[in-house]
Amino acid sequence: MSFIKKLVTGEKLDKTPIWLMRQAGRYLPEYQEIKSKSKSFLEMCYTPELASEITMQPIRRFDFDAAIIFSDILVIPHSLGMDLNFIEKTGPVLSKLSLDSMKDIDRLNADGFEKKLKPVYEAIKTVKQALNEKKDLIGFVGAPWTLFAYMIEGAGSKNFERANIALIERKKESKVLIEKLVDVISKHLINQIEAGATSVQIFDSWAGELSPYKYQEVIIEPTKRIVENVRSRYKDVPIIGFPRGSGFRYKDYVEQVGIDVLSVDQELPMNWIKENLSNKAVIQGNLDPMILLEGEKEISCHVKNIIKTFEKGRFIFNLGRGVSQKTPIKNVEYLVKTVREEM
Ligand code: CP3
Repeated sequence: MSFIKKLVTGEKLDKTPIWLMRQAGRYLPEYQEIKSKSKSFLEMCYTPELASEITMQPIRRFDFDAAIIFSDILVIPHSLGMDLNFIEKTGPVLSKLSLDSMKDIDRLNADGFEKKLKPVYEAIKTVKQALNEKKDLIGFVGAPWTLFAYMIEGAGSKNFERANIALIERKKESKVLIEKLVDVISKHLINQIEAGATSVQIFDSWAGELSPYKYQEVIIEPTKRIVENVRSRYKDVPIIGFPRGSGFRYKDYVEQVGIDVLSVDQELPMNWIKENLSNKAVIQGNLDPMILLEGEKEISCHVKNIIKTFEKGRFIFNLGRGVSQKTPIKNVEYLVKTVREEM
């Protein structure tokens, strides 16, 4: 049985399992080498041999307990026909979606999307064969709000004002778009599980940028429908939710959405997490990735504090957000060693 499933069913593990969000990527020289030979980030995502190799790089180097498939949350808007480019030092740029009429949404072609995402499923199958069966293989998606926000803004944004305004000025169209995303996201998760993912994570990276009074309607309800859709096909596959920046609304999220594992960011006070969240889901988190740019003493101190709060062997050690590009490899090695020694 996968270790995430064991935790979800209440089993205590001998060691605290560890994997890191963005564990594959720019801080690894072996990633940079593949990148330097590739045409683009998307080419790496859509070439199963490359995506599977990049997925395995951090497993070989650090022996993490889980692999997360190398892909991106924005492959969904891309697969619906939107232009997408990853520009060095800027990040992703999408063609902006207008919500002036329903026609704008109709033009997003949901019929072809599974065919376009086939390389992701192929990559999962390849990783599955290479991965020790004790390790989890995590598939993922972006949540409806975070994808909606990127699609409306066309890129990352300071406070996602355009997306927040669209929810108000284009109520009907926004609702239809979010429903369409729920459908496509659910299918992409189910397909990843079918290909071999043993657990899936829903990234809602911009949950903290949504107007709080819309939280129920735009985050909780759509995400809950996704969880129900996945469960109707795969009853037992653990689902991890990560509504980053939700603050005290993490509590509503975990009580209502129906996920098994809650990934928490580094903003929340540890005692608050313990009192309000730990008894409702398995916790995943929440080391501040910046600590990995500090020295061994700081890393050790923070690791101990996290393990003491969440109980060794009963949670998944991870970061509060993705690994920074500037992270020294020796610090990641030290982190894994420290987490495993705290038994
Ligand atoms: O190792 C893994 O975690 C799996 C791969 C993964 C990537 N993106 C690869 C990637 C995952 C899980 C994601 C999720 C993702 N993508 C999120 C949610 C998590 C988060 O970090 O908040 C978001 C918001 C995106 C969108 C995205 N993709 C941005 C904003 C950027 C550019 C800025 C940045 O942080 O790098 C990307 C590019 C991207 N996605 C890279 C990688 C390895 C860097 C590509 C490069 O420059 O080589």
